[in-house]
Amino acid sequence: MELEITNRILKNRNYIAQLSLLKELETDREFCRHDMDHFLSVARITMHMCREMGVRADRDLVYAAALLHDIGRTQEMTMGIPHDLAGQALADCILSEVNCPEDMKSRIIGLIAAHRDITKAGDELGRIFCAADKKSRKCFDCPVLERCNWPDDKKNLYIEV
Ligand SMILES: [Fe+2]
Repeated sequence: MELEITNRILKNRNYIAQLSLLKELETDREFCRHDMDHFLSVARITMHMCREMGVRADRDLVYAAALLHDIGRTQEMTMGIPHDLAGQALADCILSEVNCPEDMKSRIIGLIAAHRDITKAGDELGRIFCAADKKSRKCFDCPVLERCNWPDDKKNLYIEV
């Protein structure tokens, strides 16, 4: 299977439990949610940008990182731990459980660590992944745009290719 690690993550009990808890915690959230639609958008936009920019990227690594990058939101919402930090520890555990190779695991954790701050990205893929996370949000179609705390110049007010 091409997306072998990605699909093992999808079936992992720990991942399923975190995703279910996150869905429950965000039930009444009016702003952007951190759900499977968002994760897949981040993966697809990352791959698209990599193709456009001529950056080589392993598809399984990108999709796996996208599935995991916001999973730490559960601990941010319940314990106040920043989700990029909490997500690294959760991803480490889940990736070990799915027998992810060590080099791939450390690269995925690196993408999670830098996904909120492009200056922390160690390479072009890290910068693209961080940008894709932001580009995935449909601000132009958001009913609570005016109350969102994203700076106006960061909001996606137009559809870009
Ligand atoms: Fe995200």
